[in-house]
Amino acid sequence: MNVDLYEKIWMWGSGAIIVVFIASIGVTFFAETIQPPSHVEVIDPETVRTDEEFGSPGVTIHDDGSATVVVQAFMFAFLPQEIRVPRRVPVTFRLTSPDVIHGFQIVQTNGNAMVVPGYVSQFTTEFADAGEYLIVCNEYCGLGHHNMMARLIVEDGSPRASASATGGER
Ligand code: CUA
Repeated sequence: MNVDLYEKIWMWGSGAIIVVFIASIGVTFFAETIQPPSHVEVIDPETVRTDEEFGSPGVTIHDDGSATVVVQAFMFAFLPQEIRVPRRVPVTFRLTSPDVIHGFQIVQTNGNAMVVPGYVSQFTTEFADAGEYLIVCNEYCGLGHHNMMARLIVEDGSPRASASATGGER
């Protein structure tokens, strides 16, 4: 069978592109640990503001040093506005919305989740570097979308010290 040279180039070229695409999924999954969340938990959006957990969002540092961050995302802000966590400990984010779909992206980290009313989005990550990170809403949610942001401060030092510094317990 005789295949024209140009046709061969196109065939190998498109084959190579598919290999690159599949490999890039592997790289983001294994090297950058960017994965779809598997957590499924429902909540009535009407009860979010009075909910025992989401009604008073904040950071809890556990005895093993890990942290849980409860966040309410609504038009057009996040609560809490400032989140302080220790570095190099597992940090579990729990997010929900009382109104519309929002995004929760911690810029320059792998922390990124959709916040869907009716559901609790949950993911766990670790921050290797201390510093200040910008959190933005990356799902268009209305007129104030571009103003919807918060701050994450990853603190150096022992988790215990930062727990007492931020008031810790919730
Ligand atoms: Cu919330 Cu965009």
